[in-house]
Amino acid sequence: MTAGFPDQALCHQALCHQCQPGKVYLVGAGPGDPGLFTLKGKTLLECADVVIYDALVSPPILAMVNSQAEKINAGKRRGAHSILQPDITQLLIAKAQAHAVVVRLKGGDPFVFGRGGEEMAGLVKAGVDVEVIPGITAGVAAPAYAGIPITHRSYSSSVTFVTGHEAAGKYRPEINWSAIAQGSETIVIYMGIHNLPHIVEQLLTAGLSDQTPVALVRWGTRPDQEELIGTLATIVAQIEATAFKAPAIAVIGSVVNLHRLLASCRPRSM
Ligand SMILES: C[S@@+](CC[C@H](N)C(=O)[O-])C[C@H]1O[C@@H](n2cnc3c(N)ncnc32)[C@H](O)[C@@H]1O
Repeated sequence: MTAGFPDQALCHQALCHQCQPGKVYLVGAGPGDPGLFTLKGKTLLECADVVIYDALVSPPILAMVNSQAEKINAGKRRGAHSILQPDITQLLIAKAQAHAVVVRLKGGDPFVFGRGGEEMAGLVKAGVDVEVIPGITAGVAAPAYAGIPITHRSYSSSVTFVTGHEAAGKYRPEINWSAIAQGSETIVIYMGIHNLPHIVEQLLTAGLSDQTPVALVRWGTRPDQEELIGTLATIVAQIEATAFKAPAIAVIGSVVNLHRLLASCRPRSM
């Protein structure tokens, strides 16, 4: 167990596990700006024995981990897995058997396209005590930092969060793009850059106008945030022309037009 805990209720609660099997905290790190990280998450990093973190956790948040904690990079980026998912769950189980406070730190929110549900289920089945600490998801924060409210009384009363990921060309997710196009005024796509040509085609086939506005927000809420604004007709060519890369959130719908008015007063990263 590490020394120098802040005198806070959560750490006391975590310390109570010292003589018992450990506990795993699935902590959402948020999208990158450390100012958006929860107080609960920060407190746990200050008293963790082990922190197992993903690739999208930002450096300022990793810097909050106490110096005596064991830090393990389980980072996964497209096509490159540092540790395979079943092995991550096994690692969490093993660490919880040996340490009191084990933090599983994930970008955004653990339960939003973060496999937090799978890991939590694996831990519960193994009899490991586990708790989730939500984080701010990129699909809300990245558009906000680009001056795009994902709902607005005049433009959008519904929003769908959807993954655009397909695994190394082997399969397409069975996402009903037609139903999404017809049923949701704002579409927020995670992991969609690589597959965007296919997604755009599906949305046009489903009847969306090619003038529907699209925003891509890369590294949202971080100091190096980048945006690309276009329409369904132009966005694929814009990606090619600018070599725009993941990780990015795509926002599709008329709320994107608010970017012109609101982007000038967007927040700054801490
Ligand atoms: C595996 S998902 C994890 C999502 C995460 N659990 C969340 O709630 O934000 C990874 C994808 O989230 C999106 N993403 C995560 N952080 C981002 C950021 N700071 N800016 C833009 N997109 C981000 C990208 O689409 C990225 O490919």
